[in-house]
Amino acid sequence: MTEFEPKILVLSCNWCTYAGSDLAGSLNYEYPTNVRIIRVMCSGRMDPAFIMKALATKADAVVVSGCHPGDCHYQNGNFKHQRRMKILKRMLSQLGLEPERLQMFWISAAESKEFQETMIKVVNDIKELGPNPLLKTAPMVIVE
Ligand code: FES
Repeated sequence: MTEFEPKILVLSCNWCTYAGSDLAGSLNYEYPTNVRIIRVMCSGRMDPAFIMKALATKADAVVVSGCHPGDCHYQNGNFKHQRRMKILKRMLSQLGLEPERLQMFWISAAESKEFQETMIKVVNDIKELGPNPLLKTAPMVIVE
C-alpha cells in the first residue's frame, strides 16, 4: 500500500518567505516535494477565495506565509491576513475540515532553514491527519 502523499499549497509573500524558500533551494536545504509554492506580493493580498478554492478542489492543506510582524512591505498586510485566518479557520470547521489544514507562518528571506523545517513539519502533520475529506468524493466545482 502506498503512503498518503498530501498536496500542500504554500501561498508565499514575495518579499520574505518566497525569498526564504529560494534561499533554501540555493543552499540545498531539501524539503518535501508535496509542497507547491505560489508567490503573491503580500500575505495581505490573500483572497480567502484562493484558500477555499484550493481546499475544495486540490489541496490537502494550505499554508500562508509572510513577513514577520513589523516587516510587511505594505505596512500591515500580514496583520490583515492574521485576522482573516481566525474567520477562515471557523469556516473550515463549519465545513467539517480540521483547522490544521490552514496554517500561517512568519518566515523571513533569511530564514531558509526555518522554511525547510516548517515545510517538513507541515507535511508530516498533514500525513498524520490524512487526506482532505472534501477531496474523497468528486472535487467541488467552483462557479465563478
Ligand atoms: Fe510580506 Fe506583507 S509584504 S507579508
